[in-house]
Amino acid sequence: MSVEILKQGAEGRLYLGDFKGQACLIKERFVKKYRHPELDTQITRQRMKAEAKASARCLAAGILAPKILNSDLNTHKLYMEYFDKAKTAKQFILETVATQGEDNAKTSLLELCTKIGHIIGRMHSNNIIHGDLTTSNILINPNGCHYDVILIDFGLSHYNQATEDKGVDLYVLERALLSTHSEQPYLFEKILSEYRTNDNDQHAVLSKFEEVRARGRKRTMIG
Ligand SMILES: Nc1ncnc2c1ncn2[C@@H]1O[C@H](COP(=O)(O)OP(=O)(O)OP(=O)(O)O)[C@@H](O)[C@H]1O
Ligand SMILES: [Mg+2]
Repeated sequence: MSVEILKQGAEGRLYLGDFKGQACLIKERFVKKYRHPELDTQITRQRMKAEAKASARCLAAGILAPKILNSDLNTHKLYMEYFDKAKTAKQFILETVATQGEDNAKTSLLELCTKIGHIIGRMHSNNIIHGDLTTSNILINPNGCHYDVILIDFGLSHYNQATEDKGVDLYVLERALLSTHSEQPYLFEKILSEYRTNDNDQHAVLSKFEEVRARGRKRTMIG
């Protein structure tokens, strides 16, 4: 049987398959030969469990994420809902700028960032830490004449209220945006200003974020 591979990497691969007759995406993690087998099994299971738990928590909190249909810890496969029309936020931003031009793109991208900021604020107010919040882990899924923003790739996620961890999530996202979309500094600014309007303890998170950012700067200067 031939399978359509979406992504083949060192860590694992993603391909289309089915679960009980329902089309889905299968995310398979590879065994790492260089790691001690027991430790490897432990890490893999931990990541798979984290991914399944965080997706469920997001959905319960009204945040869009793929439904996990099945988690097979023995074969290291996660079966999840597949959004076949979705593209990553990274692709979406690059394409919007390329097709509409810098100035015209700004209005639609600001709208996108309002949505992203709102969703991350809600995720953090539910104490869900993403752990790898990049623009490749945010999907844009067309829905009528609008689109939905969906969070994916929760393998490094955890559940806690530490402002430090939330600050790190924001910092990771800022770095991701700056590295690919350095011409659009307004993107992260908009995300942050929308994030601020959430009703939880965002003030403490933002000062942590500033701290994390300052540490990051120092590190870059020292080399
Ligand atoms: N449910 C989904 N529906 C549609 N596309 C998806 C879905 N999940 C992942 N993708 C696509 O596959 C890519 C890789 O998926 P994902 O980020 O989960 O894996 P990864 O980065 O290899 O994972 P990890 O960092 O845990 O090793 C995403 O950037 C996205 O383009
Ligand atoms: Mg990813």
